[in-house]
Amino acid sequence: MAETDQVAATADQLAAVNFTDSVQNHAFSDRVLIRSIVGRPDGGAGLAGQRVRAGGWVKTGREQGKGTFAFLELNDGSCPANLQVIVDAGVAVLSKLVATGTCVVVDGILKVPPEGTKQRIELRVESAVHIGEVDPAKYPIPKTKLTLEFLRDHLHLRSRTNTIAAIARIRNALAFSTHSFFQEHHFLYVHTPIITTSDCEGAGEMFQVTTLISEAEKLEKDLIKNPPPSESEIEAARQLVSERGAAVKQLKDAKASKADISASVVELNKVKESLSKLEERSKLKPGIPQKDGKIDYTQDFFARQAFLTVSGQLQVETYACAVSNVYTFGPTFRAEQSHTSRHLAEFWMVEPEIAFADLQDDMNCAEAYVKYMCNWLLGKCLDDMEFMAKNYDKGCIDRLRMVASTPFVRISYTEAVELLEEAVKGGKKFENAVEWGIDLASEHERYLTEVKFQKPVIVYNYPKGIKAFYMRLNDDLKTVAAMDVLVPKVGELIGGSQREERYEVIRERIMEMGLPLEPYEWYLDLRRYGTVKHCGFGLGFERMILFATGIDNIRDVIPFPRYPGRADL
Ligand code: 4AD
Ligand code: MG
Repeated sequence: MAETDQVAATADQLAAVNFTDSVQNHAFSDRVLIRSIVGRPDGGAGLAGQRVRAGGWVKTGREQGKGTFAFLELNDGSCPANLQVIVDAGVAVLSKLVATGTCVVVDGILKVPPEGTKQRIELRVESAVHIGEVDPAKYPIPKTKLTLEFLRDHLHLRSRTNTIAAIARIRNALAFSTHSFFQEHHFLYVHTPIITTSDCEGAGEMFQVTTLISEAEKLEKDLIKNPPPSESEIEAARQLVSERGAAVKQLKDAKASKADISASVVELNKVKESLSKLEERSKLKPGIPQKDGKIDYTQDFFARQAFLTVSGQLQVETYACAVSNVYTFGPTFRAEQSHTSRHLAEFWMVEPEIAFADLQDDMNCAEAYVKYMCNWLLGKCLDDMEFMAKNYDKGCIDRLRMVASTPFVRISYTEAVELLEEAVKGGKKFENAVEWGIDLASEHERYLTEVKFQKPVIVYNYPKGIKAFYMRLNDDLKTVAAMDVLVPKVGELIGGSQREERYEVIRERIMEMGLPLEPYEWYLDLRRYGTVKHCGFGLGFERMILFATGIDNIRDVIPFPRYPGRADL
């Protein structure tokens, strides 16, 4: 079965399972999901007459009929659509229900609304089980139309908005489809470390993990409260030790009783102990520990310098070179001062690594994976995608269809540069220079994928000077077996390569790039012992969400964005 058919078949099965003639409570709560009512193909009409309990947050509410009843649009996040709820004044105090953001749990009967209304079903409330009130004068996000920028200042409440909830469902679906794709193709999910002592990209954009600063602060405070002993205090303690020592000696010389001697030894030991404590404290120095004019990391938590990972690739390679097909999917961190709409300081990356595979296999895998995710969203998230199309990007559904069904263009870096040079000759203006040997800028990438080809483009065989040390050197000795997948709307979505499996060559490359060999010895061992041709790539998960949804800024597609100057919550 083709992958597209498989997705469609699964969606059909889901439909068959979920939408029977009676609604059931959610497995772990005492209410039905609004999705299981309004998400049915019949919009819920087939459930008329059934008694249900629903809970959610009021999107909009209004009193009607001179305050005799109220309409509420209730949403519980299970789907983009709301359940229309009608409450009579006799059932609850209507003014407590209608404010946007109010949480309500209600029992009632599903009814088909009168002809001419948009809804296919509505809930006539018989009793209100719970009301979590909102003071509309104080609620930080009372309006329905708020800019995404404004919402970034209210991260803890922005998940209440339709847009952020839809993005959350799309993000969830993409994560699920990622695992589904790799599991179907027999890849093992490997958890690589978040704290690392290796710099994968060699670009030095890492956040440091250290307790030296907090330890130094603690010590500083402690020394103020409890100042270190003065030289004269220590001298006095030394004096005491020698006096007590003399006393012991005297008793021994005088052949005193065993009991008397042991008692005086005990006294001697006590003063010795307090002297050593004083001496220990006198050595404490405020500030970060130093040795030979440098920070002494042997005193740090891990007894060496440590960082947050920029990529799980190097570590996941250790598993690829043992169990052959693996992937890691986790947060990665980059301390770059990028203030663009495509960069985060904390982002999630999907990184497969395949043994016995070359650059062609790598490109094939990347293309199949991206297509699989597009099909998944079309099959399982169409309601949220329609919301995005209506509110943010008219073309986003067509773009998913196009990418799912069109072979990606594949051109070498050299060809890409030629195409860009032709464009410049033809009058196209770029802010960044186009020249063989320089990395493509975002504007170049977007020109290729959005203007020139209008479909995804894989650029491969980049100059070795602009790529990482681990990429396999091509026979021309000038380029490496790297590949970037460029997609409309985003530019670079994926970066990958065939890895250098030849021991001598990779060793040479590390040195050539001015990197120290010692930290990479374990990585070199993978080439020393049982080396294998292998390749892999990294997909920027938030960039995939940007591409799918058409949202402009990457800060809006991750629940808690981190970027220079901001790390709220
Ligand atoms: O091209 P990159 O730097 O590749 C690697 O890290 C390799 N070690 C991956 C591998 O081969 N296993 O990053 C991969 C992708 C980029 O193509 C981009 O989509 C995304 O990660 N990315 C970012 N996304 C958001 N914010 C940032 N600051 C990003 N930097 C890279
Ligand atoms: Mg890259």
